[in-house]
Amino acid sequence: MPYAHITGWGMTAPESILTNDDLSKMVETNDEWIRERTGIRERRIVSDGQTTSSLGVDAALKALTVANLRPTDLDLIICATSTPDYIFPATACLIQDQIGATRAGAFDLLAACSGFIYATNMAAQAIRSGSIRNALVIGAETLSRFVNWKDRNTCILFGDGAGAFVLQASERPGGVYSAVMHSDGSGGDLLTLAGGGSANPATEATIHEGKHFIEMDGKEVFRFATRVMAQATNEALDSAGMTLEQVQWIIPHQANIRIIEAAARGLKLPMDKFVVNLDRYGNTSTASIPIATVEAVEKGQIKSGDKLVLVGFGAGLTWGALTAEWTGPLPSKGHVYPQQYRVLGRVRSFVRRAIRFIEGIIFRREL
Ligand code: UT7
Repeated sequence: MPYAHITGWGMTAPESILTNDDLSKMVETNDEWIRERTGIRERRIVSDGQTTSSLGVDAALKALTVANLRPTDLDLIICATSTPDYIFPATACLIQDQIGATRAGAFDLLAACSGFIYATNMAAQAIRSGSIRNALVIGAETLSRFVNWKDRNTCILFGDGAGAFVLQASERPGGVYSAVMHSDGSGGDLLTLAGGGSANPATEATIHEGKHFIEMDGKEVFRFATRVMAQATNEALDSAGMTLEQVQWIIPHQANIRIIEAAARGLKLPMDKFVVNLDRYGNTSTASIPIATVEAVEKGQIKSGDKLVLVGFGAGLTWGALTAEWTGPLPSKGHVYPQQYRVLGRVRSFVRRAIRFIEGIIFRREL
């Protein structure tokens, strides 16, 4: 049975920064309150023209470059997102087209902020089963497009960004060891974006009522999060036959520093075991764990051989944790330039559309 190694990683965040002081000009809040209650100082916001898929493409190509893997070698792309470009087609398919991953199946996964853990586990299981060799997992969000900028309960929290992992099969032990995934739909109403689905299709009324914005019962989500973070970490460790002492780094969902501190207390671990960067990005939902991981790897904190726990929670309610040994890129021959596939991908996409157009004319004549 092959192991599923994390062999490539990449992240991207929009250039535009929104500080707490900027927010204090938009709603009744202030830098001190936001820093003390959340730990967040600033977040990144997409500019016009940027989308969830465009952020996902950037992160994906960086991850493929680290793995030295061609997009055409990918068997599967999973994009975990709560803010897709469209309800359908899947954002994963848009990314597949833009990076020229011609052989890959692609789908979106919606488990809110736990989505990256769910997606990494799904890709790892597909590799472990032997049905695929190479997978790309992306967490990408443009939450700023769904935030009510008049609601101080939510607009201070969220930011935009994307992160990606490449997972590859190898006979060498390592990679993803275990994962646990949980849900409790009875808490679905605590964090919602209620408009635009089949329950509340877009109408003038839904827009008027602000149903296309994120709504949250912050206190309840907070209480739930502090309960499940330590619990899920311990479960994933048990299922891998590992102990906390063997773990070098915990990479938690970056929602609120007080939630991470509560998890540290619950696990009786010092805060310096936790990777934290929410002060600079805020809560980027599915992108928060890969962005934190990539930064820690690039800073030299996470090294080959380190044992990690990724742990998160989110709307649904969902929560989960995943244990892994960090290995790094697998040995490969030659140098691959995945960025070039972006251009090739665009040409290919254009040609395929043209062929479809011509086929359409021919078939219409035949009918
Ligand atoms: O990925 C999952 C996403 N969700 C989360 O992780 C959210 C989890 N929840 C939280 O992080 C916290 O509950 C919040 C940061 C959202 C709120 O912190 P809190 O400590 O639970 O504050 P609170 O809602 O209890 O509000 C305390 C006070 C209230 O005033 P009164 O009623 O005590 O006078 C609020 O009206 O702070 C007030 N307040 C604010 N003041 C300044 C609420 N939001 C703000 C604000 N600026 N932005």
